[in-house]
Amino acid sequence: MNSSLSNIVTPLLNWYHTYARTLPWRQSPSAYHIWVSEIMLQQTRVEAVKAYYNRFTAELPTIADLAACQEEKLLKLWEGLGYYNRVRNMQKAAIQVMTQYHGEMPHSYEELLKLPGIGSYTAGAVASIAYGIPVPAVDGNVLRVITRMTANYGDITKQNTKDEITKQLQAIMPKQHAGDFNQALMELGATVCIPNGEPQCFVCPVQTYCKAFQDGLTTELPIKSKKKPRRIENKTVLLLISESAVALQKRDSKQVLAGLWQFPNVEGHLSPHAVQTQIDQWHIPAKQILESKQSKHIFTHIEWHMNSYLIFCEAQAIDLCDQFEWMEKQDLEHIAIPTAFQPFVSVIKTYLEIKRNRIYIRFLFCLVYVVLKTLHIYFLSSAGAVWKCIKDVNTKLRQKYSINRFGKCKKMNLVKIMIDNRLYL
Ligand code: ADE
Repeated sequence: MNSSLSNIVTPLLNWYHTYARTLPWRQSPSAYHIWVSEIMLQQTRVEAVKAYYNRFTAELPTIADLAACQEEKLLKLWEGLGYYNRVRNMQKAAIQVMTQYHGEMPHSYEELLKLPGIGSYTAGAVASIAYGIPVPAVDGNVLRVITRMTANYGDITKQNTKDEITKQLQAIMPKQHAGDFNQALMELGATVCIPNGEPQCFVCPVQTYCKAFQDGLTTELPIKSKKKPRRIENKTVLLLISESAVALQKRDSKQVLAGLWQFPNVEGHLSPHAVQTQIDQWHIPAKQILESKQSKHIFTHIEWHMNSYLIFCEAQAIDLCDQFEWMEKQDLEHIAIPTAFQPFVSVIKTYLEIKRNRIYIRFLFCLVYVVLKTLHIYFLSSAGAVWKCIKDVNTKLRQKYSINRFGKCKKMNLVKIMIDNRLYL
């Protein structure tokens, strides 16, 4: 076995040229497009990123568009991806690119590093993929591949391990194919040299050069120190509904998820009685309080354990309580609500949908009732008129032909008369 890492370059590039996945950002590798895709890929799987990437770049096709985008729209485009500071930083960087670099991403690794939110990984990816600059881009995938290839027992969460691997890769970067080489390493890590379980060594193009494979260490490596346990925060979410509107509020600029919208919520798990006390403090007149969905959301360092209540308010709540925005169902489509609150959006949408359908059904019933009633009155009144007419004619005929009340007639043309009578009718 040849222990030099440089042996992996050619087989890896050949493998990449044959097996690289067709991904939207690989079709037009401009610095802007690479940048957007790499920021999204830092937090989400490739398959999930595709739709976000396509929507984002369709809405904001240039750096100038990103720089000028309204905050509400920007957050909506990022809704569901999490780590909203990343997209805020992207906008800050885009503004800087517009003012300091004439609207074009800087063409050097060092200059890219100066932009907000761009670290060594992103700078390396943009510089190598968009501009062919031979610098490594070391993410979790690449760390796993190289620690296995070289049987490196360094902890991959530590900066010194990252620095060591960056140095090793810098030494073997193919000058003409830097972008493809970096992407090939990432691709191998994402599809073959996978985490959590058995890597697919039998299809690995660089198996022959892999120390972990030779020594049976693939499940042991990489070494990754355990993270601190996440802090648990209990919350009670209050789904305040008045007529067809629901109460929302914007998160504080100093909180995590700043600037996004949330349902009013309070710390701790509140009893129905405590909920009543809380809404009394907010001067919200409530008709009914119902316990609703429970949900858990995991952030990097925190877990939210949430209970919720559906609170049906009097119509005047909307005027009485102005610390919240009261929004209709269709307004929810235009604001960014963090994933943590999305289970409650479903509850609200289902409720408002049922309510709207009930209103339609009630309206339909009313309409049918009115139509039937009209027909009923019409027929009743005409039947009454008909009956009255029959009675009048009958009386007149009886008088004329001397027929008594019991139908005993003195003249023989009664049948004819009755037929006439009907015809008359
Ligand atoms: N993961 C992050 N960036 C990637 C890229 N450019 N190709 C494949 N996987 C990735």
